[in-house]
Amino acid sequence: MAGIVLVGAQWGDEGKGKITDLIADDFDYVVRFQGGNNAGHTVIHAGRTLKLHLIPSGIMYPHITPIIGNGVVIDPKVLLEEMDELREQGLSTHRLLISCNAHLIMPYHRDLDGASERRLGKLEIGTTRRGIGPAYMDKASRMGLRVQDLTDEHIFRKKLDAALSEKNDILSKVYGLPTYTVDQIAEEYLAYAERIKPYIAETSTLINRALAASQWVLFEGAQGTLLDIDHGTYPFVTSSSPTAGGACTGTGVGPKKIDRVLGIAKAYITRVGSGPFPTELHDETGRHLIDVGNEYGTTTGRERRAGWYDGVIVRYAVHVNGLTDLIITKLDVLSQLETIKVCVAYEHEGHRYNELPCHQSTFHHARPIYEELPGWRSDITQCKTFEELPAAARDYVSFIEDLAEVPVAMIAVGPSREQTIMRRWKGRV
Ligand code: IMP
Repeated sequence: MAGIVLVGAQWGDEGKGKITDLIADDFDYVVRFQGGNNAGHTVIHAGRTLKLHLIPSGIMYPHITPIIGNGVVIDPKVLLEEMDELREQGLSTHRLLISCNAHLIMPYHRDLDGASERRLGKLEIGTTRRGIGPAYMDKASRMGLRVQDLTDEHIFRKKLDAALSEKNDILSKVYGLPTYTVDQIAEEYLAYAERIKPYIAETSTLINRALAASQWVLFEGAQGTLLDIDHGTYPFVTSSSPTAGGACTGTGVGPKKIDRVLGIAKAYITRVGSGPFPTELHDETGRHLIDVGNEYGTTTGRERRAGWYDGVIVRYAVHVNGLTDLIITKLDVLSQLETIKVCVAYEHEGHRYNELPCHQSTFHHARPIYEELPGWRSDITQCKTFEELPAAARDYVSFIEDLAEVPVAMIAVGPSREQTIMRRWKGRV
């Protein structure tokens, strides 16, 4: 049995797509368990760059069954566009399976996401405006429409009618926006349904059977630990559970089926959207990280905020996810720097915080306490083993490892899959 969870250990965009792509050969299934098309995985495969938002990156491998789990929220229009694009690139989508229990993003969810952000003004979350939050709100308030509803026009219309009786009031009376009729949405969505129906399945049973048959299943997280609705920097978070526990609820497997939890962290840190960020840099080093690291959102194209590696956050991610391994990406982005800082604790009003402070205001005002390490100032993009890295780069990784208290299993030194040092990953033997 091998159930392996892969999650982001920071604020997302850690390079999860690249690592999934790298280890995908070992797996029979790759399952997404939360989020929606707010995510963006850039996968470079066979010389092609593909940007996937919803479909698990396992789609690129003919031996893998990619699954969209029940914890995901699906915009069917985006799903079908992505499937069309993959087919245009010559990649088959016929193995894709979609959980019957996944929720649908409706047109009014997108409208409400944008409208509530505009209303918040300076206090905005900085969402991707893809309707993610409002779709999860409806899931929790039991007003959501699910993938399975697409298979029964009568039920679909009935549930839509109930939802619209509230949504139209909110759209028109609260936000002054146009309303929808049942026919209008039903016509659009039932047309999507015809194309989506062949992919719908009860995926929980399937995944559990696969694990029982010793097949390998990768549970692929989107976003990152600090964007988790429970464990992140609330309210500046997404509306799902990108932490390891989400892999269980978002796919329907028990925690004892998970053998290993891989956490991905960049050698520095970025975040998109609003919210506290103690190690954020507004100076030329920050600019350097953005430019050299090409830190622009895959989904929205927004420039990411960038800063020094925050060891407190990653240690928190180790605990919250039960990480067994840490994977460091983009180490090469630091190669030109003379010295490199790592945040080891925070300071606020004379107190030192070695762990994430409980109160949000403390975290907002926390000043990072740094350790400064020498840079290596040489090209590491061709290094194939840990020993080939310059001593200063090895020391940097070891420093991070000691702070996190889990071993670093892989180190990415460039964008392509070959540019990854495998330190503690044997895969399927
Ligand atoms: P939402 O997920 O669109 O509701 O956005 C909520 C917050 O999560 C915002 O700060 C977004 O910028 C952030 N976010 C959502 N998806 C991603 C991602 O894939 N990478 C990084 N940040 C994300």
